[in-house]
Amino acid sequence: MLATDKLRYTKIPLNNGSGSIPALGFGTLIPDPIATRTATKAALEAGFRLIDTAERYGTEKEVGEAMQEVFRNGKIKREDVFVVTKLWNTNHRPERVKPAFEASLKKLQLDFLDLYLIHTPFAFQPGDDQDPRDTNGAVLYDKAVTLLDTWRALESLVDEGKCKAIGLSDVSLEQVKGILDAARIRPAVVHVESHPYLPEWDLLNYCKRHGIVMQAFAALGHSSEPRLLEDPVITAIARRVDKTPAQVLLAWAIQRGTALLTSSKTPGRIKENFEVSTIPESAVLDITDGIKSRVRFNAVVETGVPGFIPRGR
Ligand SMILES: NC(=O)c1ccc[n+]([C@@H]2O[C@H](COP(=O)([O-])OP(=O)(O)OC[C@H]3O[C@@H](n4cnc5c(N)ncnc54)[C@H](OP(=O)(O)O)[C@@H]3O)[C@@H](O)[C@H]2O)c1
Repeated sequence: MLATDKLRYTKIPLNNGSGSIPALGFGTLIPDPIATRTATKAALEAGFRLIDTAERYGTEKEVGEAMQEVFRNGKIKREDVFVVTKLWNTNHRPERVKPAFEASLKKLQLDFLDLYLIHTPFAFQPGDDQDPRDTNGAVLYDKAVTLLDTWRALESLVDEGKCKAIGLSDVSLEQVKGILDAARIRPAVVHVESHPYLPEWDLLNYCKRHGIVMQAFAALGHSSEPRLLEDPVITAIARRVDKTPAQVLLAWAIQRGTALLTSSKTPGRIKENFEVSTIPESAVLDITDGIKSRVRFNAVVETGVPGFIPRGR
């Protein structure tokens, strides 16, 4: 079954940029730099062809080193890998976008990027401090710039040819509509938390209607409570179809038409997560209709403050 099943190689067409995006993506929000490097290399060797990072994760340098090491071995070429990074909240002012983009590209040791995302719709006070706060600990926002101002600066990066596609992250449906109405270059990807506890059907259906790929992060629930990997609906299907709970969740995400991001620093799990194959349509429906819990694990959408990155990093 696994040898002939092609689900893990699914690519979704993009409305601009590199043509299509691998559905199964590997995220590098991994706290330890050595583990980031080892995991990125292991992910590429296991078969992942999309690597996601961000200025704010502080992992671009290690991701760049790991990719170069793999490219030097000759089996995988730069053009085979879809690389994504993100503009941080403190760089939303249009004049800060290109320098931030170029700094990311330099750390990644690349001369073009497949996808550049605005990490969150919240502009923070510009400067070197990625987490600017007042004396009471309240976030210092930047009221002088709109999401559309920043989007226009990303459009210019596409015009210059070093960035193939652009998109949004941690946005609401209303924010996506606002950008789509005004954009000269439409968002290719909308990257949000999504899994069976947060299916985001309205956003997914809107994205599908407008040719935008919805990319789901925390596809396995980020090892947070309540444990999605231990949900009785998921574990029952896993037993029935002889796959692991993680493989069931990842197959569900692809089969309902999203791209996804998963992450692991554990080599065995990285391989397991790439060895995804099709589950029966009845199992997809059992998850869609049978799981009623609703949980958002990452509160980044409320304030722009990362939910999975400890303060001070
Ligand atoms: N834009 C944003 O605001 C945003 C926010 C969050 C994440 N992201 C992106 O999305 C990526 C994925 O998100 P995520 O880290 O929350 O993904 P996730 O895959 O839902 O969660 C990762 C956690 O699951 C564990 N895990 C992975 N595979 C497993 C398996 N087969 N069995 C059991 N446990 C397993 C990992 O443990 P081990 O590492 O110990 O193996 C890790 O603790 C991030 O790396 C990042 O690139 C973006």
